[in-house]
Amino acid sequence: MALSLHWKVCALFPRNFCSLRRAASSRDLPLIPWGHYPCRGVRCFLHPEMKAFLEENTEVTSGGSLTPEIQLRLLTPRCKFWWERADLWPYSDPYWAVYWPGGQALSRYLLDNPDIVKGKSVLELGSGCGATAIAAKMSGASRILANDIDPIAGMAITLNCELNQLNPFPILTKNILDLKQDTWDVVLLGDMFYDQDLADALHQWLKKCFQTHKTQILIGDPGRPQFSGHSIQNQLHRVVEYSLPESTRQDNNGLTTSAVWDFQP
Ligand SMILES: C[S@@+](CC[C@H](N)C(=O)[O-])C[C@H]1O[C@@H](n2cnc3c(N)ncnc32)[C@H](O)[C@@H]1O
Repeated sequence: MALSLHWKVCALFPRNFCSLRRAASSRDLPLIPWGHYPCRGVRCFLHPEMKAFLEENTEVTSGGSLTPEIQLRLLTPRCKFWWERADLWPYSDPYWAVYWPGGQALSRYLLDNPDIVKGKSVLELGSGCGATAIAAKMSGASRILANDIDPIAGMAITLNCELNQLNPFPILTKNILDLKQDTWDVVLLGDMFYDQDLADALHQWLKKCFQTHKTQILIGDPGRPQFSGHSIQNQLHRVVEYSLPESTRQDNNGLTTSAVWDFQP
């Protein structure tokens, strides 16, 4: 039987999908004028056709996650592509259409402890659906940049901001690991340690970020092997752990908890 899109996204994760990203990049929409760095203050342009496509192929949902107060457009069993053959999806694999357990834990932690980000500048690296950046905004962050290398994630984040009655914050779809570092009070990463090479690159980038700018770095992760087995573990302090909702457990091969870690090299 051919793979459905949902099955493919969940089953491929956490395998190495850097190669997938490269293969997909040629299909990224060329018409969206995003990704010019720096992008502070830039409003993201959502093409009407793309907006219609995303609205048609996702469902607004708020249940089944650790943060029912955040509404998101996600891929659910009521969406055509949940069941449809994965190769019929016309864009790169939609990791933004899932609210991953690492992001859920991080968002829950911010909403319960708004002082972590209140009045501060916040970068979310690997935003996906943008829920954690949205949680930071709801918690009073003064400046936010959501970063994801997938341009369609950027569009989904714009829609998700609207859903939550928030003015969209700047979104950058370049790989900032290759760029000069900006200064942030807080950097957030939800479920970003799923690939060994990416984990190594993030570790180096975060070390520099902490050592140069004394940035607070919070990582949400449900105990993926690339995180639990990484040398970064020696420089982490566990802040909180949450029990995952049943539907998140089912979609994530039986993972039962997700934790937030403070990186202090
Ligand atoms: C598993 S998803 C996590 C999304 C979100 N943080 C969450 O927890 O729901 C990982 C995301 O990281 C993005 N990503 C991968 N490599 C990246 C990089 N070098 N810089 C920024 N984003 C990246 C992917 O496109 C994907 O949306």
